[in-house]
Amino acid sequence: MTHVLHRRIGQAYPVATSGRGVFIRDSAGKDYIDASGGAAVSCLGHSHPDVLAAMHAQLDRLAYAHTSFFTTEAAEELADDLVAHAPDGISRVVFVSGGSEAIEAALKLARQYFVERGEIQRRIVVARRQSYHGITLGALAVGGRPLQRAPFEPLLIQAHHVSPVYEYRERRADETPQTYGERLAQELEDKIAALGGENVIAFVAETVVGATLGAVPAVPGYFQRVRDICDHHGILLILDEVMCGMGRTGTLYACEQEGISPDLITIAKGLSGGYAPIGAVLMQSKIFKAIADGSGVFQHSHTFMGHALACTATLAVQRVIRRDNLLANVRAQAAHLARRLNERFGNHSFVGDVRGRGLFQAVELVSDRSTKQPFDPALKLNARVKSEAMARGLMVYPMGGTVDGTRGDHVLLAPPFIVDAPILDSIVERLGEAIEAATAQLVVR
Ligand SMILES: Cc1ncc(COP(=O)(O)O)c(C=O)c1O
Repeated sequence: MTHVLHRRIGQAYPVATSGRGVFIRDSAGKDYIDASGGAAVSCLGHSHPDVLAAMHAQLDRLAYAHTSFFTTEAAEELADDLVAHAPDGISRVVFVSGGSEAIEAALKLARQYFVERGEIQRRIVVARRQSYHGITLGALAVGGRPLQRAPFEPLLIQAHHVSPVYEYRERRADETPQTYGERLAQELEDKIAALGGENVIAFVAETVVGATLGAVPAVPGYFQRVRDICDHHGILLILDEVMCGMGRTGTLYACEQEGISPDLITIAKGLSGGYAPIGAVLMQSKIFKAIADGSGVFQHSHTFMGHALACTATLAVQRVIRRDNLLANVRAQAAHLARRLNERFGNHSFVGDVRGRGLFQAVELVSDRSTKQPFDPALKLNARVKSEAMARGLMVYPMGGTVDGTRGDHVLLAPPFIVDAPILDSIVERLGEAIEAATAQLVVR
C-alpha cells in the first residue's frame, strides 16, 4: 500500500533506483532507455559527474538562503550566464521552481508592466488552442486543453484562444505553409481587434508545441507576423519554452530559429536537466525598467525561488552543454533520428506524420493514413503504446487528444543531448515494436 497520491490512482509504477547516462534502472534491475528525457527534462542524461560534483560542493557550503535576506553567488552567476546567452534585449531573470510557476510569474510580470505604465484596463490574455502552459490556475487558464480546463473553468482568469500552427491537419490543400501562417496571423489580428487591442496584455505561445500536439514547429514567417501584430498593438509576446527551450531544438532558444525575440520567455525542464527543480522567466529591459522606475518591486515571490543548490546544478548543466558542444550533437543526432523515424514509420499504416525539430520529434498515430482518421479515443492507444514501450525498456511520452483535445494520439521523443546513433537506432526499433504490439491489440478486438 502506498501513501503517495500517484498520478493514476491504482496504477503500479516501477521504482526507479538509479540512473546513468541515457538509462534509468528500476528496483528489479531492469534498464529503460530514457528516450523522452522523462517529459523533455533530461538533457545531460542521469548522474553526470560534473553536475554531481558541483552540487556536492555547493551542498558542503550552503544549500539554501531565503531571497528576502540574501542573494547567492549561485543565483547571480546563473542569471549572468542566462542573460549572456539569451535572445536580444533580455536583461533580467526571475527564478522559480518549475514550468507552471514560470508561466504564473510571466503573466503577472506582463500585467504589472501595464499597471506600472498606467494601462490598467489591459487584462486579457490571448493564447492558442491545443497548448499546454502548466497546471496552476493561471497557467491552466491560458492553456488550450479543454478536458483539463473543464472542471476548473469557473476559477480561471479570462483568456481567449486562437488556432495553433498544426500543418499536418489544419493547412488547407490550397495553402502554402506561408499563406497558412498568414491566415493564422490574421486570425490573431481579428481576435485582438474584437477584444480591443488596448485591453490585451499578452499573446502566449509555445514556440514549438510540445506535449499537446507532439513536437509541432510553426510554419516559416508565422512568428515574425505575430511579433509585428503584438508590437502594433503594444501587446507583450510571451514565448513558453519550458519544454522546447534550452537546446532541445538544436539552438539554445527555439525562437532563435524564428528570427524573433519575445518580451518574456519561460524556461524550466531542460534548464537544469532534472538535477534540481527550477524554472525561470527572462524579460526584456523595458519590462524591468517599467517596474524599476515604478513601484520598484515585482509583486511576486516564492520561498524557494533562487534556491542555491538548484542554481548551482543548473549552471553546471549549462556549462557542460557549452563545453562539450552538445547543441552540435543535438543537431547531428536529430538528423539521424528523423531519418530513422522516416525509414521505419514513413509508410506505416498507423503513422500519419513524423515531425519535430532537434531532439524533439514525434509520430502521430492514425487508423487510416489516407483520411488521417484518428483511433477511437476509448481505445486509449497512447496509453497502450506507453506500457508496451515500458515493457521493452523504453521511456517515450505518448499523449492523447492530439487532434482536438479528445481525439488523436501521438508519441513524443526527447532523448538527452548526449545520445548517439546506436542508442537512437534502439529507440526507433523498440518504439516500432511497441506500436506494432499496441495496434495489434486493437486490430484483434
Ligand atoms: C510548454 C510547457 N509549459 C509549462 C509546463 C509546466 O511545467 P511544470 O510541469 O514544470 O509545472 C509544461 C510542462 O509540461 C510545458 O510543457
